[in-house]
Amino acid sequence: MAKREIAKGIYSVGAVDWDIRDMHGYSTNRGTTYNAFLIVDDKITLVDTVKHHCMDQLLANIREIVDPEKIDYIISNHIEMDHTGCLPEMMEIIKPEKLICSMMGKKNLLDHFHREDWPYEVVKSNHEISTGTKTLQFLETRMLHWPDSMFTYVKEDGLLFSSDAFGEHMASSELFDEEVDFDILMYECAKYYANILYPFSPLVNKLMHTVVDMNLDLKMIAPDHGIIWQKHIPEIFAAYQRWSSGEAKKRVLVIYETMWESTRKMAYAVNHGLQEHDVSISMINLKNTHYSDVVAEVLNAKAIILGSSTLNNGMLPAMNTFIYYLKGLKPFKKYAAAFGSFGWSGEAVGLLNSLCTEMKLDLVEDGIKTKFVPKEEILEQCVEMGRRIGAKVAEDFR
Ligand code: FEO
Repeated sequence: MAKREIAKGIYSVGAVDWDIRDMHGYSTNRGTTYNAFLIVDDKITLVDTVKHHCMDQLLANIREIVDPEKIDYIISNHIEMDHTGCLPEMMEIIKPEKLICSMMGKKNLLDHFHREDWPYEVVKSNHEISTGTKTLQFLETRMLHWPDSMFTYVKEDGLLFSSDAFGEHMASSELFDEEVDFDILMYECAKYYANILYPFSPLVNKLMHTVVDMNLDLKMIAPDHGIIWQKHIPEIFAAYQRWSSGEAKKRVLVIYETMWESTRKMAYAVNHGLQEHDVSISMINLKNTHYSDVVAEVLNAKAIILGSSTLNNGMLPAMNTFIYYLKGLKPFKKYAAAFGSFGWSGEAVGLLNSLCTEMKLDLVEDGIKTKFVPKEEILEQCVEMGRRIGAKVAEDFR
């Protein structure tokens, strides 16, 4: 990513990671960016740093604007290593007067880098710091998505540095929302929300109200990953309000993994029943879809119907991985049901039912299981289950 001025005296100086395809288990199919920003004012301020292996890109961008040793303040909005991996080296080069972070930011920086001697300046919500002509206002956003997370708002420019919030994993040579494909951008934002922020939805919802109540004259939102929002701020705000309140589409997912095709036959019978109603359906075979892509679909679905054969008294491996990953993300306001085939013990459907109940999903069926290969009557029961769930979802949207 080349350096680029995004507002008067404020530059994007972060890095593009075109190669990354896995971020702690999240499939980053389009790569990502680690955004950092330089405010050139009486006090020169660097907002966030980048992942360790991208430090050269960051330094090269800064050097095109100023000598890094002239930087006065570093702001660390979030301590996760993709934004602080190169902080120790940058601290050595810059030797800033202040390292600005939240109280939990200081704790987490100490737990990561064990440097008591750094010049921490702890800030709280509404605390302001002047860089000369610009006023930086801070907003703590605890658990969005780490305890240390905070936003930094540049009042004079209406520019919000939003850390991980409103971001997405998408490598791009373009910087602004109006420069990229909007549908791809929104898909990646939904995937990011589902994988990173979903468990904190009640807090996100509260934050959205707080930001609206602050009545900021927002002109730009610059997250730490991906694209800067400028033209489509209302759209990303509306999306966050929808996702954080559990608003779904008239959509049903049949998510399954099959051993010898029996569970797949049941999945397609369920689909057959669903088709009798005015609902959108997606069939997702976990053998060929990454679980982090599946949860992006779950975010917008009203019902999930889960199928797994039984293997060694449990679920098949991909379903096992998916369902425990989903449980951690705390999905809500969804219908659920389960089905699957077995050879002699048949625990998978019961396990799926238990997990859906633990997740507080609305389990609307007892579940259907069949020994080895399903007979016509079992397939008809699956069709009926699809019909009932399709009717229920369609009714909700009338
Ligand atoms: Fe992009 Fe939570 O780090």
